[in-house]
This record gives sequence, structure tokens and C-alpha cells, in this order.
Amino acid sequence: MLEAWHEVPPTAGLPLSWRDLTPGGADLSVALAQYLALPEVQIECSGTAALIVALMTLRESSARQKVILPAYTCPLVALAVAHCGLQPILCDLRVDCFEFDQERLAQLCDDTILAVIPTHLGGRIADLVPVLDIAHRVGAMVIEDAAQALGGVAQGQAVGSIGDIGFWSLAVGKGLTLYEGGVLFARDTALRQRLRQVSAAMVQHDKRWEWRRSIELFGYAALYHPLGLHFAYGRPLRRALRRDDPVAAVGDDFDVVIPLHRVGRWRQAVGERALARLPEFQQHLRALAAQRKQRLAQIPGVQVLDDAPGTQGTWPFLMLVMPTAQARDAALDKLWSAGLGVSRLFIHALPDYGYLSHLFASAEIPHARDFAARMLTVSNSPWLDEAKFVRVLGALGDAVNRG
Ligand SMILES: Cc1ncc(COP(=O)(O)O)c(C=O)c1O
Repeated sequence: MLEAWHEVPPTAGLPLSWRDLTPGGADLSVALAQYLALPEVQIECSGTAALIVALMTLRESSARQKVILPAYTCPLVALAVAHCGLQPILCDLRVDCFEFDQERLAQLCDDTILAVIPTHLGGRIADLVPVLDIAHRVGAMVIEDAAQALGGVAQGQAVGSIGDIGFWSLAVGKGLTLYEGGVLFARDTALRQRLRQVSAAMVQHDKRWEWRRSIELFGYAALYHPLGLHFAYGRPLRRALRRDDPVAAVGDDFDVVIPLHRVGRWRQAVGERALARLPEFQQHLRALAAQRKQRLAQIPGVQVLDDAPGTQGTWPFLMLVMPTAQARDAALDKLWSAGLGVSRLFIHALPDYGYLSHLFASAEIPHARDFAARMLTVSNSPWLDEAKFVRVLGALGDAVNRG
């Protein structure tokens, strides 16, 4: 009975221990700066809030209005750009990849572009060298979206600290979590100071939001285990799938109003205590991913996204590109509601969400749409045991043979 209620989460979040929740306060920013080997970082109430502070800061000193984003990324990125009164411009991806098509990026970049936002998706590391070069040639800033890659490293440097500005998310499912939280950094000292000033002027304390997030964080601590996840994640997921609502199933149905408030001392203290366990947890996930990706890649036609030499990403889940959309959908028919941690990341390319379509002029984004149609994710949670992983491998193999 209990086994039937065992739910593997779609991403490997760091579980909280009851000791993390004890009363007290701490400055999480100091611990995170040390973890990332950076001089200082700034805590915001979400990754989206961190991006909004970054964009509002850049807007102050420029008349440029356009921001380039990958055509397949978190809808919140587009909502943040719109929130700031800026115009999001979509850049297509490379084939079978989440990174910008460089040629297309170069065509889109001109002196109207305020910023370019490359993304380290699902813990995989994007190559920022060409992006920085293309953006800087036209005087645009690079805001590195490391929302899904806290702890990733490229050439010895923390991802998120390679672009002009970088941010990370501490939302649920992202590894370290405050239920919702964000971290912001800029390479330039003067720009860091401006980011702090803009945030101080824009973002106020809000007791109601902080209470709500504190209760949600408490709920996460209580329910983030295979049995609790059956109720908190699995049942709502299966209800959404029965309604044929994949957007709700993955939680892509975001509110267009973005809360902005300060993060309280208790939630920061919870994060600071949990952070002490993050390096060991991530090491464990790397070891799990190393063997899982090899076995998944043996399925004919299945590509597992991996990191380039010299980079070390984080592994909350593995991203698989299936040979055809039919094979992807056949695999999901078997696996998505099976409690095995197989899921989709974002359902659509950005203009294909009804609530976002008005933000975009028509864009040529065939590769992003194809990526959305053929990609699925396999959890890298330690709770995905060998027997369950073998079931995943079997269903993926069958789907490829039939697709
Ligand atoms: C790639 C990406 N960017 C930005 C965000 C926004 O972060 P947050 O949820 O902390 O607001 C997310 C969140 O899912 C994300 O996945």
C-alpha cells in the first residue's frame, strides 16, 4: 500500500531537517557568498524578483528597451521583463539544445538591446563566451540566468558570476530552497551597489507574504519525502493530467502579478543551515547522474544533455531529447503519472502559452518548439531506486521502438 504511494519528485531538492527549522536568525547572503566564492551576494524573494531588480537597475541608465531571451525558458523570465515595462525579444535555440543559436543571436543584437539573458537550464551549463562577445559588441549587458544551476561551475568559476549580472533561484525543487527565494550578483562593484540601492527603494517588508512563505517552507519540510510528495505533488499532478492540462501539471500557470518583498530572518536562517549540507548532496547527485546518464544514453536515438569539458553542472534531473515527438509522448503516456519522477520541464516555447502570447511579435523559433516537443526529464532524486529506474529505462526503450 505504502509502496503504491511512493512518489519520486521530478527534481532532486535538498530535504530539510527539523534542526534547520529551529528559531533564530542568520544572514544567508554571507554563507552563500562564501559557498559561491564571491565577495557578496544579495538575497531577494525569488529568482524573478532578482531579475526584476537587475532589469530596473539597468533601465535607470539606458534608453534601451529590448531584452533578448531564449525562446524556451521559464515563463517567469518573460513576465519579469514585461513587469519592468521592457520588450522581450525571443531568440531561437540551437538544434536539440537549450542554448542560444549564436547566428540568430548576432542578428537580433543591435544598439536597441538593453540585455541578453542566457540560461543554464536544468543544471546544464551554457557557454557564455560567445554570448558575452555578441552582447558586448553592441553594448548590451548579459544577465546570466542560473536559476536552475546553483552550485554549477565553469572553468573554476561559479555559474551566475560569469555574466555582467547573474541570479539564482531558491524556489522549491531547485536544490537549496526557502520555498521561494532568489540571489543576485554583479561582477562590477559599483553595479552591485546600485542593485542594492534599487532593491532597497523598490522592495519592502511584507509580513503577510513572509508568513505565507514561512508556512509553505514548513510544509515543504514536512512533506518533502516520497509519501508526503504523493499528496503534495503526485495527486494534483494526476488530477491536472486527467483534465488534459499539462501547463498546470508542471506548474507553468504563473500569476502575472509578481510578489516583491524582503525575505525574513528565519527563512534565511533555515537556508543557511541547509546550505551546510548542499555540497555533499550535490556530490551525491553528480555520482548518481554519472551512471544514470550513461544507461539512458544507451537507448537508441535518445540524447542525454551533458556538460562540456571544463564545466561541472548540477544534476536535479536529466534532460532527454527523444528521437521524435511521438516517442516522447508515448514515453510520457506510460511514465508521467507513474510516480517515477519523469516529467516535462516547461510545456511550451514562450509564445505558445496563451497568457504570454501578447508579449511577442511573431518569432521564427522552430528549434525551440521542437525542443519543447521532444524533451522530457528524468528525476535524479536519490529516491528513484534501481528497480524504479529500470522501469523508466524499459518504458523509454518501448516508446522509442514504437515511436
Ligand atoms: C530558468 C528559470 N529562470 C528563472 C526562474 C524564476 O525563478 P523563481 O521561481 O525563483 O522566481 C525560474 C524558475 O523556475 C527558472 O526555471
